[in-house]
Amino acid sequence: MKIGVEELGRLTGELAHEIKNPLSSIKINLKLVREELEAAKSAQAGQAGRGQSGLGFTRALRKIAVIEKETVRLEQILEGFLRYIDRTELQLVDVDISLLMSDMIDFYSPLAGSHSVIIRQQLYDKSLICKADEGMLKQVILNLFINAQQAMSDGGELLIRTAREKREAVIQISDTGSGIAPDKLPKIFDVYYSSRLQGSGLGLPTARKIVEAHKGRISVDSEPGKGTSFTIKLPIRKP
Ligand SMILES: Nc1ncnc2c1ncn2[C@@H]1O[C@H](COP(=O)(O)OP(=O)(O)OP(=O)(O)O)[C@@H](O)[C@H]1O
Ligand SMILES: [Mg+2]
Repeated sequence: MKIGVEELGRLTGELAHEIKNPLSSIKINLKLVREELEAAKSAQAGQAGRGQSGLGFTRALRKIAVIEKETVRLEQILEGFLRYIDRTELQLVDVDISLLMSDMIDFYSPLAGSHSVIIRQQLYDKSLICKADEGMLKQVILNLFINAQQAMSDGGELLIRTAREKREAVIQISDTGSGIAPDKLPKIFDVYYSSRLQGSGLGLPTARKIVEAHKGRISVDSEPGKGTSFTIKLPIRKP
């Protein structure tokens, strides 16, 4: 899957922006740790005694924990970026979308259950053969399942539908979660847009990139407070 020079330029700009915060947090905390340790060292040498230096060490350790957390974050940002710009070619083979979806439902059901998410399915009863990279498509579907689950933190219903419309296989994944405000809706496919504290904001852009590499389309429909529905359309293989 190719990424143009222009897009790469934009992406690296955004990457730089993403790593700025964790980097400056690491820098500040390292400085604080040094100050704490210096103070603890002179406390130990002077009259103040062990009590003061012990406190200093405790505070320094807390800051080291913050530094560790920010480092993990940096690692995740980098891994996500590399995965996003991944140029590996799609391995296109005949894939039965009906089969793939029922596999994905079996695979995901235990996790859904443990999050009080009830799965309902309306699956097309014949095969839907597309030229596709099975692993990549599974990644897309799993991303949509997890987004839906995250939008239904108190549980809810996940409706999974497949259908055939003319020469296209249709996959629809709908949830009864929080929904997305109309002003946020145009942003959700943007790289690094995330409303979640721990979100990388790469899930949907990656999904769209993969679907478009299959000459397909992905669209969204959402109503705040009611839920969200993602629809993927993929060309059915020519007979
Ligand atoms: N089913 C959904 N219901 C409500 N909001 C959603 C749904 N799917 C996506 N969103 C919104 O779109 C944003 C972007 O989604 P995306 O999958 O790209 O990133 P993320 O889930 O925040 O992070 P990541 O997937 O990297 O963990 C989410 O943060 C959320 O605000
Ligand atoms: Mg996501």
